[in-house]
This record gives sequence, structure tokens and C-alpha cells, in this order.
Amino acid sequence: MAERYGDADIGVYGLGTMGSALALNLADHGFKVAVSNKETDWIAPFLQEAGPLAPHLTGAQTLTEFVAAIARPRSILFMIPSGAPMDAMIDAILPLLDDGDTIIDGGNADFNDTRRRSAAFKGTGRHFVGMGVSGGAEGARHGPSMMVGGTAHSWDQLRPMVQAIAAKFDGDPCVAHLGPDGAGHFVKTVHNGIEYADMQMIAEVYGLLRDAGGQSAPDIGALFERWQDGPLSSYLIEVSAAALQTIDPETGQPLVDMILDQAGQKGTGRWTLIEALKLGQSASTIEAAVGARGWSSEKGTRVAAEPQLPAMAAHVDLPEPADLERALLAARILGHTQGFRILSAASAEFDWQLDMARISEIWRAGCIIRSALLDDFAAAFRGDLPLNELVLAPAISDMLEDSIASLRRVVAAAVMAGVAVPALGAALAWYDTIRRGRGTADLIQAQRDFFGAHGFARVDAEGRHHGDWNRVQKT
Ligand code: 6PG
Repeated sequence: MAERYGDADIGVYGLGTMGSALALNLADHGFKVAVSNKETDWIAPFLQEAGPLAPHLTGAQTLTEFVAAIARPRSILFMIPSGAPMDAMIDAILPLLDDGDTIIDGGNADFNDTRRRSAAFKGTGRHFVGMGVSGGAEGARHGPSMMVGGTAHSWDQLRPMVQAIAAKFDGDPCVAHLGPDGAGHFVKTVHNGIEYADMQMIAEVYGLLRDAGGQSAPDIGALFERWQDGPLSSYLIEVSAAALQTIDPETGQPLVDMILDQAGQKGTGRWTLIEALKLGQSASTIEAAVGARGWSSEKGTRVAAEPQLPAMAAHVDLPEPADLERALLAARILGHTQGFRILSAASAEFDWQLDMARISEIWRAGCIIRSALLDDFAAAFRGDLPLNELVLAPAISDMLEDSIASLRRVVAAAVMAGVAVPALGAALAWYDTIRRGRGTADLIQAQRDFFGAHGFARVDAEGRHHGDWNRVQKT
């Protein structure tokens, strides 16, 4: 066996769903992969199931054996739970590494941890990369989108492998080195925040059609399926259409009708929101989605409240399907725009020089939020962007002009019908905020000065001013 050691192109540690899929994807592209796992009894079955790919794979029972199996400078990909397990793994593997080796955390890690770890690696000759991987198990196996952080040295090392295994959009690999330290994990986190908002918006349209329109899940699914041929074409619409048309074999009912309405979450949506708030950015569509998942788990309260808190709703004529389609498009544009603005703010804060066009491009295939719209965003970011604002790109503002009235009608109908549309409503409110030259913060400043002497700027003079709030004149 010894002669097989030391020539693996990469090591993959962690043979859960994502790790094993990525290892097989790498093997499929002709790379030699050393694999290992904390539970060593997973290794033999994995190699057995690899079938014809097995000759490209070397199983290692111990960490020492695993590291020894990889050619130097080593690339070692960890697909293990983020947080404390990753820190423990770094402590265990560091003494086994040599100069130039790179370890990659491919999990959904908090970018703050990635920055801390990158800082700890600085000057050690070893490299740490935080890499966001999107696309679920299927993507990992056949072409994910990958968002890579870390050093240029590590990127040179990883590039041939990740470009080979990435999803391709018109031949362009959906992977990029986005910046140093936590840039890759931050972009992945915001990807997930956008994912949360988009999923929620789709669910809200479903809720409106179901609860105010009395439509069946398969009928709504069929409508969504038709939208796949238009500007909403996306993976999330595709899976929603398929899910709504799936029948439960046990009961013969639509499967979604048999699923408890309590959504799980692993935390990336919440992280996006927390970081957005720290950066002073609106993430109202993402907050709506995170909050809705929170409320979904409070089933008991909702059931108790239903008879006691009446909707006082009026009968409304539901908007036409084409109106719903355009409303969702407008909301999707606005939800993504919030995500891109969070990325821009983080890029400035951490000096990452994030390339929004490239990020849009690598999200066009492989990842969960892939959609036709991302190609439009990529083109907009590559073109002239007034004030660097996506919504001011002519192609994007034209799309909003065509669709915003639909979003108003849909939100209005939902409000009158008593159906909650927090993410669609947040998108619309945000649109109406950013489009108004004169906002209402004049009164906020007056209130602050009134009770706290915080001062305000005047529209007609320089400097800081205070009001004489006793000079009230009643009309
Ligand atoms: C992806 C997804 C993935 C995420 C799931 C579940 O890009 O492939 O974002 O990373 O883990 O979508 O996330 P929640 O459990 O938080 O919904």
C-alpha cells in the first residue's frame, strides 16, 4: 500500500452527504482523493459504493495516515460540522502539516470564525480557506457553486480542482476566489440569506393562492411550473412546483398538505441578518423570512390565536396569475438587491474588494438560488451602474417599472384578505423607502433633539442645530 501514499491531489475529511458527494465528484474528474472520517467504520462502505471510482480513492483510518496520503503542498478539505468540531480538528491536524499546506473548511461556517482562524494561520506557513459550497448533495456530486476565501497561494493550489468539479454556466465554472479570510464564507452566508427570502416569498404566493384563493397544492404547483418558462425561471421555483405536485403515497393527498407547517433552520439566514444590522444595512426581506420561520415553530400559539384574533378580512378578487408572477419578480429583485448591498457593505468594512458581477456569475448555476435573474444582475454589474446601485441599472429599473404595480396589487390583496406576506410586504416597503428623495427622518431627528438634545442638520445651513421646542404654534 505504501507506494499509493503521498500522491493524492486532495484529501476530503468527513464522509457525510456533502463530503462523500464532493469526494466522488473530484474522483469523477480524475483527481486522486484521500478520504477519512471520524467514524472510521464509514470509510469501507463509502469506498465499496464508489464502484468504478474506487481506484481514485484512498481510505485512511487515522489522521496521520490521511495526511501522509496527500501530495505536498497539501489541499485538505473538511466537510464536518462547523464551530467547535472544526476548531478541534485544526488543533489535531496542525502538527501534521507542512509549509504550504492548505486546509479548507467547506461547511456553512460563521465568517467571524473563518476570520479568526485565518488570522491564527497567518505567518505559520500553513493556509486556511473558508469555502462556501452551495447546491446540496446533488450539486456537490455533479457541480456545485463554490465561494472561495483565503490566500492567493491556496487559490492557485485549489483552482484546477474546484474549477473542474464546479457547475458550469455556458462553460464558465461557477467558482471564484472572492477575497481573503472570511470573504468566501460571508458570501455563502448572504447567499443563504437571499435563499431564505426567496423561499419565503414563494411560500407567501402559495399561501395567498391556498388561503384566499382556495386553490389546491397541485394547481398552484402547475402555475409555478409554467413560470419556469418566464423571468422567474429558477431552481427554487422548479423545486416548489415539483413539491406542490407531489402526492403522498400513504394518503393519496398532496404531500405538502401532510407536512407540518414548522420550518427548521440551521442559522445562516439569522447570521446574514445579524451581520447586515451590524453593517447598518436593511435586510428586511431576510428578517421577514427568518421571523416567519420562527413563527412557524410557534404552532400552539397560532392555533390558539386563530379563533380569538379575527382577520376581519374582506373578500378580495385574487390578482391574475400574470400579476402574481410579476409581483414575485419585483420582490425577488429587491430581495437580491438587499443581499448585494450587504455584500458591498461588508466588502468595504473588511477591505475584501468583492466583485459583485463575478458573484452573480458564479450563482448562475449549481447553487440553490440559481435563476435567470442572476444573469441579468451579472450583466448589470458589468455595465455602468449609477451610484453603484443595482436597482439603478437601466435594465433592472426597467424590470421594476414593469413589475412593481403588480407587487402593490398582490400585497394589497393579501392585506385585505388577511394573509400574511411579510417578505413581499418588506420588499415593497423597502422599494418605497429607497425611491423617495425626501423621507421621514426629519421627524425622527426632531424627536431625538426634542427629548435628548441630539441635534440635527438643517436643509438650509451647515453645522449642527437644535430646535427651540417650546415655540409650539397651534393651527
Ligand atoms: C446550499 C444551502 C445549504 C443549506 C440548506 C439548509 O446553498 O446548498 O444553502 O447550504 O444548508 O439550504 O439551510 P437551512 O437549514 O438553514 O434552511
